[in-house]
Amino acid sequence: MSIRLKISILIASAGLLSALVFSASVLFEMLEQPFRVMDTELRTVAFESVAALDQAGVAGVRDNRRYWIKIYKRGEPEPLYVSHIAQKIDLPESNGRKSLAHAYVPDELSYVEHDSHGKTAFRIRRFVIEKEHTGVFEEDDDDGNYDDDELKYIVYAALSAERVSDEIADLMLSVAAGLLLSVVVLTAVSYMIAGYILRPVRLMNARTRSITERHLNLRIPLKEKAGASDEFNTLAMTLNGVFDRLENAFNKQKRLIADASHELKTPLSIMRLITDEVNMSGSISADDARRLSEQVLRMERLVKNILNLSTLELDSGISAEAVELRSMLEALKEDYSLLASERGISIVSEFTGVLTVGGDFDKLFRAFSNILDNAVKYTSDGGIIRITGFRTDETVKIKIFNTGAGIPAASIGRVFEQFYRVEESRASRYGGSGLGLAIVKRIIELHKGEINIESVQGESATVTVILPSS
Ligand SMILES: Nc1ncnc2c1ncn2[C@@H]1O[C@H](COP(=O)(O)OP(=O)(O)OP(=O)(O)O)[C@@H](O)[C@H]1O
Ligand SMILES: [Mg+2]
Repeated sequence: MSIRLKISILIASAGLLSALVFSASVLFEMLEQPFRVMDTELRTVAFESVAALDQAGVAGVRDNRRYWIKIYKRGEPEPLYVSHIAQKIDLPESNGRKSLAHAYVPDELSYVEHDSHGKTAFRIRRFVIEKEHTGVFEEDDDDGNYDDDELKYIVYAALSAERVSDEIADLMLSVAAGLLLSVVVLTAVSYMIAGYILRPVRLMNARTRSITERHLNLRIPLKEKAGASDEFNTLAMTLNGVFDRLENAFNKQKRLIADASHELKTPLSIMRLITDEVNMSGSISADDARRLSEQVLRMERLVKNILNLSTLELDSGISAEAVELRSMLEALKEDYSLLASERGISIVSEFTGVLTVGGDFDKLFRAFSNILDNAVKYTSDGGIIRITGFRTDETVKIKIFNTGAGIPAASIGRVFEQFYRVEESRASRYGGSGLGLAIVKRIIELHKGEINIESVQGESATVTVILPSS
């Protein structure tokens, strides 16, 4: 479950809980009110009935047929007076604690409010009314001490609470509907609030994802407003600190490789000179001499390539002079033609339009030289190398095609990796280090261009370079 959803649910639950507590307390008050009114009404009716009974006997009690009334004289089992509906409906005459009693309303009493099943709840109260010597009727506290001889009446008075129950049911329904609606609104609002709260996290996530090995200099933007330092800002600052240290360590390592390979160049050149001298002196066999020079040359090339790549890694941009690729490629074609013709390989070229790009001449020269070097190296004897160049609206496209074994599909995605060579044995025959294309890719990236390689296995390989035109 996402944090956003969790926060939404938590806020909505908290809101629902407080809404529940609030509506419960309001409901409690509202539910009590109508019953209090009914109790007052029942009390009045009880007093009036007792007074009438006392004065004029049973016949004097006005029965308006709404009230369920039974009047007892204290100590007598039979009631003195039973109202019309009390004759038809039986209600429990408890000591007054139970205030609601359910009963069926017979058909002939249809004017008594009831529900569709003929059932209703009666509000029933018990009053103990005593007649003082002065003739005044007073409610007795009904403490069970009947030790005086005053006249006491016990009245059970009840009234159908159907309408009140209906109103209560309606009220409950409205409260439930209100609560449901508030849950929906609360969830929607809290979802938006959670989204707003988590916005910095989303931004941080997006930015952190773009901080890659190539873009270690990027940082998470911080809030600049004074006093805006919340937890997210603090986290962003901590992360930025981590990125600072990472970038530092990374650069140190790159510098170490660059420095080491640079330092290796001089002893290697001296070694080559000594090797040449030893070879000429004839003090070792011709075969050993050849192997020795081969290895020294190989080592020199390797160190040169490592140095190239590591200095390119340290570069973050390039000088942007106008570079004319057509003449550069023609010159390279010349350079490689001797080597190619020795093996019966023909190099053809075809250029259309002005092929000028903005960039660093030496670096681009090195890149295309590496591509051509591969083309010549990996073309079988008697093959063809075709260099084509044309421009589109915003780019210059250079394709270098060569016949030969091509590259297996499984390896094609990896040829730009450092030290990757297709089939170690095949590649080592050509003395390659596997750094050529990694260097090319880095140079093209520095020029904001694209490079890709395609191959028809067993037939050909084509390298395509696309550079923004100037
Ligand atoms: N034009 C091509 N035709 C066939 N295979 C190629 C071609 N260009 C590259 N490759 C394959 O891709 C691998 C990587 O090329 P890359 O130039 O990086 O290394 P390399 O040529 O082996 O060594 P280096 O260029 O450092 O001397 C090569 O080993 C080779 O197998
Ligand atoms: Mg190469």
